[in-house]
Amino acid sequence: MEPLVLDSRTRLLVLTGAGVSAESGVPTFRGMNGLWENHPVEAVASPEGFDADPALVWRFYSQRRGGAADVKPNPGHDALVRWEQHLGDRFLLATQNVDGLHERAGSQRVVAMHGHLFRTKCADCRRAPFNDTSVHPSGTVPRCDQCNGRLRPDIVWFGESLASEDLERIGDFISRRDGTRLVFLAAGTSGAVWPAAGLVDQVRAVRGDTWLVNFESAANTERFHHFVQGRSGEVLPSLAALS
Ligand code: APR
Ligand code: ZN
Repeated sequence: MEPLVLDSRTRLLVLTGAGVSAESGVPTFRGMNGLWENHPVEAVASPEGFDADPALVWRFYSQRRGGAADVKPNPGHDALVRWEQHLGDRFLLATQNVDGLHERAGSQRVVAMHGHLFRTKCADCRRAPFNDTSVHPSGTVPRCDQCNGRLRPDIVWFGESLASEDLERIGDFISRRDGTRLVFLAAGTSGAVWPAAGLVDQVRAVRGDTWLVNFESAANTERFHHFVQGRSGEVLPSLAALS
């Protein structure tokens, strides 16, 4: 197999999904069959679901916070840290994961496209999101100390838009014209959730090279030039040739 060459003329955009955290013990979404305690994930991860039953939503995220608190980054996360150290600002990591494991592993140039599990914001006023590890397993809905409104996790839910500055940062990286060649690598993602699933085509539009590392075939596997089937924690550490 031809290696993923990361040399001084390469800039690399990485997209990660739940599969990259799977070997750390964080459950994937499709792995739950799209259900949590028999509720469709849309019911616990959407503004409509929060309006209908905010206590249920807090029970779901309390369980996710509990599950993500004690896990550790795995060799897949660590490989991405080494690649970033090698490439510097010719590296950008866009993640759909909200567990913070990339940052804990040591990645610095991270765009958390879907938000942060350990951050909370107010659903009712413009107070800035804040770091928060609190859990509410009995479904108590925490209140905002500025407006007494409902607090919610700082997560981009189904039907919500991604932060425009996050999309701009990714778009600017893709369209950068500095003489380097763009390589895109997606790992551990089902290729079914947008806009992340469309990045491969944005990269192809500027003639970038595209790689997919995934345990199963993804919804958009055929859009990639290279598909390496396997677990990210096993594949990523030996995939790249750094020069
Ligand atoms: N290594 C690589 N890939 C893996 C591994 C692994 N160890 N384990 C599972 N996978 C693959 C699965 O085959 C699957 O294709 O990772 C993918 C995980 O898919 P999803 O659970 O759908 O996760 P993701 O693509 O990140 O979901 C996107 O959907 O529910 C929303 O906002 C949520 O960010 C999430 C988004
Ligand atoms: Zn408020």
